[in-house]
Amino acid sequence: MKAFQANLPVTLDFEAGAIRHMGEKVEPFGKKVFLMVDPFLQGSDLVAQITSSFAEHDIEYLEFYDIVPNPRHTTIDRAVELVREAGCDVVVAVGGGSAIDSAKAVALVAVHGGYCWDYTERLGEVVTRPQSRGLPLLVVPTTSGTGTEATPFAVINNPELGLKCAIVNPFIYPDVALVDPQILVSKPARLTALTAVDTFCHSLEAYISIHCTPWVEMVALESIRLFATDAQRCVEHGDDVEARARMAFASTLGGMAIASAGVTVSHALGQPLGAMTDAPHGGTVAASTPYVIGWTLPVCADKFARVAEILDPSTQSLTEMERAQRLPGILEKLFTTLGVTDTFRSYGLQEHQIDDFAQTVWTSFNQDLACHPKKITSKEEVADIIRMCF
Ligand SMILES: NC(=O)c1ccc[n+]([C@@H]2O[C@H](COP(=O)([O-])OP(=O)(O)OC[C@H]3O[C@@H](n4cnc5c(N)ncnc54)[C@H](O)[C@@H]3O)[C@@H](O)[C@H]2O)c1
Ligand SMILES: [Fe+2]
Repeated sequence: MKAFQANLPVTLDFEAGAIRHMGEKVEPFGKKVFLMVDPFLQGSDLVAQITSSFAEHDIEYLEFYDIVPNPRHTTIDRAVELVREAGCDVVVAVGGGSAIDSAKAVALVAVHGGYCWDYTERLGEVVTRPQSRGLPLLVVPTTSGTGTEATPFAVINNPELGLKCAIVNPFIYPDVALVDPQILVSKPARLTALTAVDTFCHSLEAYISIHCTPWVEMVALESIRLFATDAQRCVEHGDDVEARARMAFASTLGGMAIASAGVTVSHALGQPLGAMTDAPHGGTVAASTPYVIGWTLPVCADKFARVAEILDPSTQSLTEMERAQRLPGILEKLFTTLGVTDTFRSYGLQEHQIDDFAQTVWTSFNQDLACHPKKITSKEEVADIIRMCF
């Protein structure tokens, strides 16, 4: 068996109603919270429950709601100033991947100083890579998609440069993630679908990554199995707490899988497309996945066959190669059923932008390309893949 290491430095607290214990969870970490809340929750009961739980434990807090999807580096720098001025000693984030990634960056930059953008990975640039933790961080995901509660990544957008890049640092994991399926029941169907396909793509990409290990394989395949049984259910019956819990678990597992094995080509293309078009992350990743599978098939047929069988058990009687060849079609059908049908073109990418797009992928997401099982050796090759997905 391939040798491997597995490390999950975040305490996961999975429980319906978990957020009621927020004050108790924060107490060991600090006395003054910088509370970063996704703006869709402003004025909600959920925030009231969290803040009253702080009050019960004599914990002060400063609220911050200025978060947008594809989070901006400037917002994070502003938040860091507020944290320092107010003397906050712990960060709590409640929201989607954008809110949690913002909080991961704020917690790190508040301790280590400088500007957020300088912490992001960019080929050939000087990158700030702290060797110790930031402020303590507790997070509550309100989407089941990114799995960011269990990853060492924070994806940050720089609209001035038209770039979206990631902080990749083992000291950025949250200390505690409260995953509370009860708060997911009101998540709109469209967002449920977009975030579910993101989870699927994480697990698939980690599974096919050259860094996949027996640990990643177990985690990723279980995530894919839960996606297969529960994604559609969550879209159609959002109030099914059990289905929400299983999809939340799938999402966290997907995060754990990419934390160990990284993502591959679909994310390398999807992240900058999100920066260029402000399109939703799950959609940008799903748009290329069936094509990328087709292109990768010769080197990964066994793994694609296994995924095809999980998603469509009727393929069991086929040969391995036949099952693998079915996967792009199975996914196109599944994504269509979930209502995730956008393409690079429909997100507004134009043909004359392909070379610039390929350049960005090459320099900003080279680490992801390097995880792909089929070698990519130049930005011209990236441009060819983008053309294929067009
Ligand atoms: N750090 C990682 O490991 C990692 C992994 C994958 C993706 N990402 C990043 O995460 C971001 C995407 O996060 P996301 O897909 O969770 O979406 P998001 O956080 O960008 O949220 C999308 C929209 O949904 C709203 N929203 C969130 N939860 C809601 C709910 N329960 N009900 C109603 N509205 C809700 C938000 O206010 C926002 O308007 C991207 O920037 C992506 O690059 C990070
Ligand atoms: Fe993702």
